[in-house]
Amino acid sequence: MYFLFVLIITSCLAKSDSSRILHSVFSDSNTTQVYYGSINYDTEQYNIFNSLNINDVGNPKRIKYSVLPLTYDPNDDVIYMAAPDNDNRPILSVINATTGHLLSTFKSISNTIISLQFDIFQKQLFAHIESEKENVTLLTEIDTTNGNIKHVLATIRDSKPTYMSSYCPICRKYFLMMIEDEHFVYAGVNTSNSGGLDWKAKLNYSPTGMKFDYKTFTMYTTYVNTSIRYVSSIGILDRTKGGISKNVGIISESPDVGVTSFSAFDIAEKIYYASITLDSVFPNGISYVNVDNSQGDLNFFPNTKYNSHAWFIKQFVH
Ligand SMILES: *[C@@H]1O[C@H](CO)[C@@H](O)[C@H](O)[C@H]1NC(C)=O
Ligand SMILES: *[C@@H]1O[C@H](CO)[C@@H](O)[C@H](O)[C@H]1NC(C)=O
Ligand SMILES: *[C@@H]1O[C@H](CO)[C@@H](O)[C@H](O)[C@H]1NC(C)=O
Ligand SMILES: *[C@@H]1O[C@H](CO)[C@@H](O)[C@H](O)[C@H]1NC(C)=O
Ligand SMILES: *[C@@H]1O[C@H](CO)[C@@H](O)[C@H](O)[C@H]1NC(C)=O
Repeated sequence: MYFLFVLIITSCLAKSDSSRILHSVFSDSNTTQVYYGSINYDTEQYNIFNSLNINDVGNPKRIKYSVLPLTYDPNDDVIYMAAPDNDNRPILSVINATTGHLLSTFKSISNTIISLQFDIFQKQLFAHIESEKENVTLLTEIDTTNGNIKHVLATIRDSKPTYMSSYCPICRKYFLMMIEDEHFVYAGVNTSNSGGLDWKAKLNYSPTGMKFDYKTFTMYTTYVNTSIRYVSSIGILDRTKGGISKNVGIISESPDVGVTSFSAFDIAEKIYYASITLDSVFPNGISYVNVDNSQGDLNFFPNTKYNSHAWFIKQFVH
């Protein structure tokens, strides 16, 4: 309990002026509803904007990969998310990102949607989806007017997909983490011109998340460094080295703190958020690290009834 006490003290000291707010889709014990809202890291407040019926938007608790496919379009201020219906077919929903009101749903894709990315400058929606064959996935552009696949940009073979993806709206590339023969593989797919799998790089570490900073062309990634002690870290991914070129911050040096699947990057404030658990007693934790100065902190939310299914930062940075 001394450890928790230290956490509470340090999180009080670390309060600053800029607000640390993550937007998310949540669920609780209610089996018919999910929620759209936000979490304020500093005040520990969950703010629910609207409830959504899982018969309309699908059930985020049934997703196959650990993060709900969700992406934010700041031009129209909407989110696109994909959750499975009772037959495990994805429902692609368009939701007002201010009010949480459901604007439209599409059921035109039959295979599992693994991740979604919105190109904020070209205003295009992309999806990584499963095919009929195991370890063959498709990177596609989705028509936002009807939810249909507009183009297949790449077919990725012999790779098991993961929930990890990120996007560069300047270089127009969809980044993916895949698994091939026990190794993580980092791939880049062109979303410009005729598409194409541009490269694949075998990694010498096991990532738990990645976020691309399109202002500095840097891919940040979370991992555990066990070389001397157990250290949950954030680093810069270097594709030519197939690994971490620089450690930019520490999430936790306690082996009791596990880094889990959710992450978000505040591109204006240069803050990387990663979800954490404490000995699985406190499953709802948030860590943040400023990737420029390595300052950060973590906080647990033991009293909340809500579980997150995806995180994003509501911002539009040009
Ligand atoms: C779930 O939410 C619906 C709609 O608000 C409500 O009618 C229902 O009673 C809730 N179920 C439980 C178990 O709380
Ligand atoms: C979202 O809701 C706000 C507040 O009602 C409204 O001003 C805005 O036009 C809505 N956006 C869309 C895309 O429906
Ligand atoms: C899919 O890929 C994973 C990871 O490489 C491998 O373990 C599994 O056997 C593959 N399945 C098929 C059907 O190729
Ligand atoms: C992807 O785009 C880059 C930059 O436009 C180009 O150099 C490369 O050849 C493209 N790769 C494929 C597979 O088309
Ligand atoms: C891993 O930890 C060792 C020992 O603290 C350190 O020297 C090394 O730079 C770390 N590597 C990465 C990639 O974080």
